[in-house]
Amino acid sequence: MMDLRTRYLGLDLKNPLVAAASPMTKEASSVRELEDAGIGAVVMHSLFQEQIEHEDAEQEHYAEHGTESFAEATSYFPAQTDFYRGPEQYLEHVTAIKDAVDIPVIVSLNGTSRGGWIEYAKKAAQAGADALELNLYQIAADPAVDGAAIEDRYIEVLREVKKAVKLPVSVKLVPYFSSLAHFAKRLDDAGADGLVLFNRFYQPDIALELLEVVPDVMLSSPHEMRLPLRWIAILDPIVDASLAATTGVYSSFDVLKLLMAGADVTQLCAALLRIGPKAVGHILDGMMEWMDEHEYESVQQMQGSMNQRSCPDPTAFERGHYMKALNSYSLNI
Ligand SMILES: Cc1cc2nc3c(=O)[nH]c(=O)nc-3n(C[C@H](O)[C@H](O)[C@H](O)COP(=O)(O)O)c2cc1C
Repeated sequence: MMDLRTRYLGLDLKNPLVAAASPMTKEASSVRELEDAGIGAVVMHSLFQEQIEHEDAEQEHYAEHGTESFAEATSYFPAQTDFYRGPEQYLEHVTAIKDAVDIPVIVSLNGTSRGGWIEYAKKAAQAGADALELNLYQIAADPAVDGAAIEDRYIEVLREVKKAVKLPVSVKLVPYFSSLAHFAKRLDDAGADGLVLFNRFYQPDIALELLEVVPDVMLSSPHEMRLPLRWIAILDPIVDASLAATTGVYSSFDVLKLLMAGADVTQLCAALLRIGPKAVGHILDGMMEWMDEHEYESVQQMQGSMNQRSCPDPTAFERGHYMKALNSYSLNI
């Protein structure tokens, strides 16, 4: 019998497939479906800093002005049916999801600065979360703020959250740091139990006829898993933190490659949104078939076997194959 077990953030998982934060992990019923399909753990849809700030502002407004309409000031805010009503409802969902399933449930907090997170990190722990994932999502668009200041702020958030809770804490990162290896090591040294590589920025579009900037989520393509693949291979020998791959994970081959690069788990989002929970079974079956054919007995046996330190050509993950790859491209026109 193939052993697919893995450890992630100090938690024992029956296999390395984790449902990434997405609308699929919002309700207890869909999380239950994912568990039935065989998923190893779930990351809940995020609690956003804006929701916490919105709730605080709303309470302040009511305290000052009574109960007249608050709509004008919050017209930027999504409809309540799209998001949890507020942080308290989010916490109720944490408890409901924990009650509904046996797999680990990771709570996702999504923001840019210290904000009200610390309090909600504590509350998420009380509500039953098995771990926290901090999604530090910021567009670095202010020319007055340098990269070092952003990195310091993220480290501060991590330290504060770690101080506030006993739970394992992972950090979900974007790939746009000048020296990612350096920053990853800083997070590792500051106590990150896991790094989640990579958050995929949603990119806005312009509606030409309306002359408006419009939200339009484009799901990832499978080739995008090459980015986490490279960085997990580079970081695996460098950091002690667990490593999770997210972006472009669709097939059993993607998962096998990412495990070999050094991932402890792979997170699925677009694959679940496109195919539904049955994607989990397809991937697990494909993994077991490949492992059987290639005489692997366990996931552990392959983890990190192709990371930068273990693979036959370590330069391949840096500039090594660059010219070779470009030269190998043939024009078919
Ligand atoms: C519709 C949608 C909702 C998402 N919601 C969240 C979220 O609440 N929190 C978060 O950290 N990431 C969120 N993500 C990002 C995913 O968790 C994932 O990291 C990203 O989509 C890349 O993985 P994929 O290529 O498998 O889609 C969302 C992605 C999509 C497409």
